[in-house]
Amino acid sequence: MTADHLYTGIAQLVSPSGSGASRGLAMNELEIHEHAAIAVTGDRISWMGRAADWAGRATHTTDLGGRAVVPALVDSHTHIVWAGDRLADFEARASNVPYEQILAAGGGIRRTMEQTAAATVEELVQFAAPRAHALIRGGAGTIEIKSGYGFTAEAELAALEAIQRLAEQIPANVVPTLLIHVPPREASQRPAYLDMVTTTLIPEATRRRTARAVDVFIERESFTTDDARIIFAAARAHGLAVKAHVDQFHAIGGVELAIEFGAISVDHLEVSGRSQVEALAASTTVGTILPGVTLHLGIPAAPGRALIDAGAAVAVATDCNPGSSPLFSPQLAMAYAVRLNGLTPAEALTAGTANAAAALDRDDIGRLRVGMRADLLVLASADWRDLPYTLGGSPIDRMILGGREYSS
Ligand code: NIG
Ligand code: FE
Repeated sequence: MTADHLYTGIAQLVSPSGSGASRGLAMNELEIHEHAAIAVTGDRISWMGRAADWAGRATHTTDLGGRAVVPALVDSHTHIVWAGDRLADFEARASNVPYEQILAAGGGIRRTMEQTAAATVEELVQFAAPRAHALIRGGAGTIEIKSGYGFTAEAELAALEAIQRLAEQIPANVVPTLLIHVPPREASQRPAYLDMVTTTLIPEATRRRTARAVDVFIERESFTTDDARIIFAAARAHGLAVKAHVDQFHAIGGVELAIEFGAISVDHLEVSGRSQVEALAASTTVGTILPGVTLHLGIPAAPGRALIDAGAAVAVATDCNPGSSPLFSPQLAMAYAVRLNGLTPAEALTAGTANAAAALDRDDIGRLRVGMRADLLVLASADWRDLPYTLGGSPIDRMILGGREYSS
């Protein structure tokens, strides 16, 4: 065969085993080729194996000099399209003012919504672009981006348009999600708001193809399970996938409802207990842990260890957003999942690649396989474990995204 590019001199070529979401202890299973090479043709992996077995020709060859190569990370949960800042919240939180109290008083997420409402689509793209590049430098080959800082259908559709424009100018894959984030403060306006979501916003986002999934923040200070049921039914009726923010502060039935709707993922899970863990283990829904939130808000760590021991599929993501997780590195999210959520290094790698891809319903990313996208991380060292080990400095030497070298 003739490939566009052969990368050789790979000390360890490492990928999660299996296909789809890896569940339970299978999350520890990695395929490791030593003294390996990988060939890229167009934007796909066209060959991989022991370097000595390569018998093809390549237009370009690069000797990586004994480095480890893993799949580019999949950041399956971010909110990077926002305007303004939450630095006052940060100071208040440092004086122990609860996140939910800030939200209930009209601040927090609602403050970001006010600031975002004042920005044009062009400005939103400008604000989001450096955040996307930071995530890419932190290892992301794919970034899910949620809307959710708009009060109106127009504002939400504008955020989805900003996500689409951003996707055209960055080398990472972008997966857009419509997030139904917080209801109007006045209870009397909630029915009209839900009506707007189901009869205008979801149909229009579907028509424009600017969202692949609908996410709902199910929480005491936000949407009830009754509200979410209405929104999920509309999402499914329009052929969109379902995801949810659940059990961040209170376990009010979000996990169970999302599973009932066949959600591709439920995210947060900081206060999930035994029954939610068992429900997830018995479902096909991926449980996504967000250690940046635990660190930044000082709330409990999601039960990553218990979920895996029970047989669930666990993913990890940054939740990059201004209020609960200003974390701009999926590599660090993975590293924190080992320290805060009790994952092994191998489970963290699977959580940040193959399982995060499953949380986005994507089967072309997150593993190294012939035919899959050539989204690769070349580490600075010969041992893949430096990726979940390193805190602060970057263990990444270079990235290949869609078969092309990424330069920031
Ligand atoms: O995933 N919990 C709700 N939504 C986001 C936070 C957004 C914000 O604080 O601006 C989250 O934590
Ligand atoms: Fe979030």
